[in-house]
Amino acid sequence: MHASSVGGMMSNDELNLPAGGSERIVTGIDGLDKILGGGFPKSRTILLAGGPGCGKTILSTQFLCNGARLYSETGVYVTLGETPRGIVQNLSSFDFKINELVMQRKLAFIDLSISGALHRQAEAGKKIDFAVLKDLIRPVVEELGAKRLVIDPITAMGINRDLPEIRERLTEFATFASDFGCTTLLVSETPIDQNIISVFGVEEFVVDGVIVLHNMRRGGTRVRGVEIVKMRGTDHGAHIYPVQFSRQGLLVFPEERVHGDDS
Ligand SMILES: Nc1ncnc2c1ncn2[C@@H]1O[C@H](COP(=O)(O)OP(=O)(O)OP(=O)(O)O)[C@@H](O)[C@H]1O
Ligand SMILES: [Mg+2]
Repeated sequence: MHASSVGGMMSNDELNLPAGGSERIVTGIDGLDKILGGGFPKSRTILLAGGPGCGKTILSTQFLCNGARLYSETGVYVTLGETPRGIVQNLSSFDFKINELVMQRKLAFIDLSISGALHRQAEAGKKIDFAVLKDLIRPVVEELGAKRLVIDPITAMGINRDLPEIRERLTEFATFASDFGCTTLLVSETPIDQNIISVFGVEEFVVDGVIVLHNMRRGGTRVRGVEIVKMRGTDHGAHIYPVQFSRQGLLVFPEERVHGDDS
C-alpha cells in the first residue's frame, strides 16, 4: 500500500505543498509594499476593488510598468473596459513610459474592449468567457514570459452566469495564472459610496488577496485611501492609508490614516 494513502492522508508531494516562506512581488509603490510586508505574495491572485475613478487602472498600470522597468518582470494587461489606446492617452501625464515598454516587449496589451478586434473575433465564434480569455492570454504570457498580469475589469466576465459557476471559473482562472507564475490583479468595479467590494459577492472569497481603493466623501470633499482587506499568507497593515497621485502614479502613506465616519 502507498504510504500516503494510509487513512486517506495525502503526502506533501500529492498535496503540492510549497517549501514554505513567502516570496514577494514588489509593486514598486513604496508605501504599498510597506503595508503589504514587502509586496504581493508571489503567483497569487488579488482583487483590486474600487468605485469609479478611484485609481484602479492607474495602480494596475503602475504595477506592470514598475515590474517591467525596475524588476525585469514582464507584464500583460488585458483590457475589457478602456482600450489600450485610451489608457495610454488618459495616463499620459504619468511617467509610466507605456509605449516604450510595449516597443521593448516588456509589456503587452490584449484588447478585449468592446471596440477591440479580438472582442469582435471572439464574439463571432463564442462570447468572451474564461475559456476564451485563457486561450487569448496563454500565448502572450508564454511569449513574454510574463510574471505580472492584470484583467481590467474582471467584472465584465461574469455577466449572465450563476454564482457557483462564477466561483468555479474564477478559481480555475486563478490556478491557471498561478501555474504560469503570474501574480495577477483582477480589477473589480464597485458602486460608489457603498460598502461592496465585488459585483457578484463571491470574488473576494475565491482570490488570495483583496485591496480596496477608496475615494470617500468627507464633508464637501473626497479623500483617497487604500485598504488591504485580506492577503493570504502574510500579515499586513490594518488601516485605511491615505493615497495621493504623483507623476510616478499612486503614493501611499503608511504612517498616516484616513479616518472613517465611525472613527
Ligand atoms: N494625472 C492624472 N491623469 C489621469 N487621472 C488622474 C490624474 N491625477 C489624478 N487622476 C484621477 O484618477 C482618476 C482616474 O483613475 P483610474 O482611471 O485609475 O480610475 P479607475 O478606478 O480605473 O476608474 P474606472 O472605474 O472608471 O475605470 C481620474 O478620474 C482622476 O480623478
Ligand atoms: Mg479603470
